[in-house]
Amino acid sequence: MTPNLLILGGTTEATALCRALAERGLTGTVSFAGRVDRPVRQPLPQRVGGFGGAKGLARYLKTERITHLIDATHPFATQMSRNAVEAANLASVPLIALTRAPWTAQDGDDWRHVADIATAVTALDRPACNVMLAVGRMHLTDFAPNPQHRYLLRLVDPPKTPPPFPRHEVIVDRGPFSEDGDRRLMETHGIDLIVSKNSGGAGAYAKIAAARALGLPVVMIDRPATPVRHEAASVPDVLEWIAHTRTDLGV
Ligand SMILES: NC(=O)c1ccc[n+]([C@@H]2O[C@H](COP(=O)([O-])OP(=O)(O)OC[C@H]3O[C@@H](n4cnc5c(N)ncnc54)[C@H](OP(=O)(O)O)[C@@H]3O)[C@@H](O)[C@H]2O)c1
Repeated sequence: MTPNLLILGGTTEATALCRALAERGLTGTVSFAGRVDRPVRQPLPQRVGGFGGAKGLARYLKTERITHLIDATHPFATQMSRNAVEAANLASVPLIALTRAPWTAQDGDDWRHVADIATAVTALDRPACNVMLAVGRMHLTDFAPNPQHRYLLRLVDPPKTPPPFPRHEVIVDRGPFSEDGDRRLMETHGIDLIVSKNSGGAGAYAKIAAARALGLPVVMIDRPATPVRHEAASVPDVLEWIAHTRTDLGV
């Protein structure tokens, strides 16, 4: 029986993996939550929307006769990753997570580490300044308690509802971005402070490098805890795992 893969996507790493799978003629489906209006086109069939929790995902794995589950979601997509672990156990389907290392501070970085979004909101309880808020559309409302700042928002899609702070500018764009471009952006908007998740990877790093070059502080939201699971750090490692992982379905 040939492998029938399910890739939980929504990242550049997932897209790279799907490309590699398609090039090798492997069969599978990539899944999106449906958060962005125009997801990047994938070289594999795709489905959109939640599964209905871990039990729903387990049902999907069985119904669709999935042989391998690959969690290539963003490191901050913790609910999906927890569900993947539980569903893989329930359905007895092998799981691997394609992960990326967090960024680490270098000489010249001025990072103020915070544990989560709520603590980042608290860190912005300070006199008004110009903030580049790079936390994604879903978390904008969390920052309502600090309406004194002027916020620069760079989003993949325009916000569905107006952000809960009166002074803001929205730039609709999708990465990867360049350090030079982000430095110019910060200078043009007189940015004083950046708020960022520690996403890791290359695509979103430009703002961190630009902040270092300009000597700007970054409120860095540390990685949430991830469940214990088998992990791979690269696309070739995932391909090798697929080749060497047999399942109850006889692959
Ligand atoms: N969080 C970030 O900062 C971030 C950044 C860039 C991209 N993304 C991508 O955006 C998506 C959503 O992220 P999130 O942080 O909102 O996730 P989350 O909080 O961990 O997930 C919430 C729920 O959304 C559904 N879901 C999430 N990812 C899915 C996927 N790939 N396919 C189908 N359903 C999915 C699941 O619903 P059910 O329980 O109903 O199955 C999940 O329980 C992920 O695919 C992630 O890779 C997230």
